Parts: sequence; C-alpha cells; structure tokens
Amino acid sequence: MQDIVIDAPSMRSVIHCGSGTFARYAPLIQGNGIFVITDSNVHRLYSDLIENTFAGATVHVIKAGEASKNYNVLLGILRGMISAGLTRSSVVVALGGGVVGDIAGLAAALYMRGIKIVQIPTTLLSQVDSSVGGKTAIDLDGVKNIVGAFYQPEEVIVDPLFLATLPRRELRCGLGEVVKYGGLDAGIYDSLVKNSDRLFSEEFAEEITPACIRHKAKVVTCDERDVGGARKTLNLGHTTGHAFELYYKRRSHGEYVLIGTYYELYIACKLGVTDASFADDFRALIKKVTGRIPSFGDAANAALVAKYDKKNKVQSQISLIVPKERGVCEEIVLPIEQYAALIGECAAYLKGEKA
Ligand SMILES: NC(=O)c1ccc[n+]([C@@H]2O[C@H](COP(=O)([O-])OP(=O)(O)OC[C@H]3O[C@@H](n4cnc5c(N)ncnc54)[C@H](O)[C@@H]3O)[C@@H](O)[C@H]2O)c1
Ligand SMILES: [Zn+2]
Repeated sequence: MQDIVIDAPSMRSVIHCGSGTFARYAPLIQGNGIFVITDSNVHRLYSDLIENTFAGATVHVIKAGEASKNYNVLLGILRGMISAGLTRSSVVVALGGGVVGDIAGLAAALYMRGIKIVQIPTTLLSQVDSSVGGKTAIDLDGVKNIVGAFYQPEEVIVDPLFLATLPRRELRCGLGEVVKYGGLDAGIYDSLVKNSDRLFSEEFAEEITPACIRHKAKVVTCDERDVGGARKTLNLGHTTGHAFELYYKRRSHGEYVLIGTYYELYIACKLGVTDASFADDFRALIKKVTGRIPSFGDAANAALVAKYDKKNKVQSQISLIVPKERGVCEEIVLPIEQYAALIGECAAYLKGEKA
C-alpha cells in the first residue's frame, strides 16, 4: 500500500493505492450522509460489498456504458442527492469505471456548489487515469466531455481487488492508457517491455498502476487546468484515437488510443521525429496489447474529424504528441491535409503488411 499526493492549486488529493486499500480506507469515509454512485454491472457484482461497507448509505445505480454520460442521467443523480437530503458535509462515493467517475465527479462539483467526493475506480482505465486529476464531464449533442468541471476528489482508493472481475477487453482498454504513459515515462516503458508476456495479468496491472498514477500526479500538480502544456502530453495517441473513435464508434476509447498511437508513430517516423528502431519496438509493444492494427479503408476521411476541436471549431493545423525516444515525447504540428494524407498512407502500409 502506498499514498500518492496531488498538491494541486485547487485542492490536495490523496490517492491510496494497492491491495487492501479498500478494506482499510473505505469504512473510514465519513460524512453527514454518504451517497454511492455506481453502474448496473458493478452493482450486480459488488452490491454486497457496497452494502456491507457503506451501511445506511444511499446507493444510486446508473445504467452501464458511455451513453449514461448525459444530462438526463446527471439530473437523475442530482435529484437523488436532493431526495437523500445531502448537505455540504455529505460525501459522494463514485464506485465504478470512468463513466461513473466522470458523471459522479460533475454531480459532486455542482451540488451545493461542491461537496466532497471520493473516487473508487473499478476498471484498469479508471485506476491508472480517469479517477486521478479532477477532470469531470458529461457528453452533449455528440460532443464528448463538452460539459464539465475541474473538481479534485479529496481521496481516491485504488484497489486491484476489483480487477478480478474485469473482462479481458476492459483490461485491454486500460492497457491502452498504460502504453500511453509508456510513451512519456522511461520507467513505465521499460516495465512494459520487460513484462510484455504478462501484460494481461492482474499482477502486472497491480505493479504498473502506482507508476502511472505517480506520472499523472506529477503532471496534474504542475498543470491542473491543462493550460501550461504539461497536461497536454497526456494526449499522446489521442488526436488520431479520438478521430477514429468518433468516426467508427465500434471499439472503446482505450483500444482507439492504441490504434491512434500506432498511426501517429508512422507519421513521426516519416517526418524524422522518431527513430525507426525505437518506433519498431514501440509498435511491437502496441501489437502485444491489441493484436492486428486495422487498416481502415477510409482512414484519411476518419482522420479529418480531428480538425474539429471540442467546440466544433475547424482547425487548419493538427497537433500530435508522439513518442520520440525512450521516456521522451514531442509535439508535432502539421497542416490537416498533410496529416490526413499520412494517415491514409499508414492504412495502405498496414494493408500491404497483411497481404
Ligand atoms: N476524467 C478523465 O481524466 C478521463 C480520462 C480518461 C477517460 N475518461 C473517461 O472514462 C470513460 C471510460 O472509462 P472506462 O473504460 O472505465 O469505462 P466504463 O466506466 O464504461 O467501464 C467499462 C465497463 O466495465 C464495467 N466494469 C466496471 N468495473 C468493473 C469491474 N470491476 N468488473 C467488471 N466490470 C466492470 C462497466 O460496467 C462497463 O461496462 C470514458 O467516458 C472517458 O471519457 C476520463
Ligand atoms: Zn484516454
């Protein structure tokens, strides 16, 4: 067990990390009313644990899946909080994956202008990434995370006990973000390479999670509101990943991050930013997690989606964060037409590779 601290300007956030942290810290959560938010899958698996740990708490269950990150579900949560009689000294507990964490975080930020929230992430993705750093949001009118707030959890309890029930596909999604950290942090990269034959084991997830959280905590401490440039590095692989995610909608976020990183490495090599042998090693690592990389027939069109920013404003330049060498990333800025053409070229290369 270990504690990692984010000393952000808005608030100090303590992350309890490791096996046994749930049993040790969850029963200590105190407040004038505890309001647990979870989703239908997690509730089915852990309702006994929730009831035994948070006796007397109100448990609010939302439907599992990204589609729940909307304003109707948010209003349902806020109404539930009013019915439960929550006050400024009550506590919200978000027990679930990134969807639960993001919407519960926003509800806690809004209710009475902000009440305490404790995040208890139950997917690998939410343990290494979304539960840490205070970004909360819902989607609106097809735009992801467009309505939200920066709102730090006072505590995060990251216990690998929840990973035992996680389907392999969800592990892969979490590994997508772990590979992202591998492009930013030499220690995480070395660990991924050294353990490339056991990436899907619970033991590896447990070992690598604190390193990922420490990396994110460092970044968030110096750039909490994503304005100084440091937090932008966490977008590694995400420009293309998000474009593919919005265009194809078939896979999950973490899977598109892996595919996006692969395509962006192709561009980085072509532009001479990333050394070819390091790029080969990194791509081999990606394939260990995700298997074959799809050679989308209309990849160049899909990439054009990247020209719309969060407010749907059209941008003529595209920014990519790419792994440059072990533990070092670099930002590439290039015109949208050149970017789309290179993405199309990578898809053609992948098609040839398969033939
Ligand atoms: N706030 C941030 O900084 C940030 C960062 C990255 C991603 N996100 C957001 O996180 C979300 C994705 O998070 P996610 O991948 O955790 O998705 P998710 O919350 O939808 O969980 C994935 C699936 O796993 C199930 N599940 C959760 N815990 C389980 C467990 N222990 N055992 C079995 N099944 C379990 C869920 O019910 C769901 O079906 C996206 O909405 C994304 O935008 C936010
Ligand atoms: Zn991500």
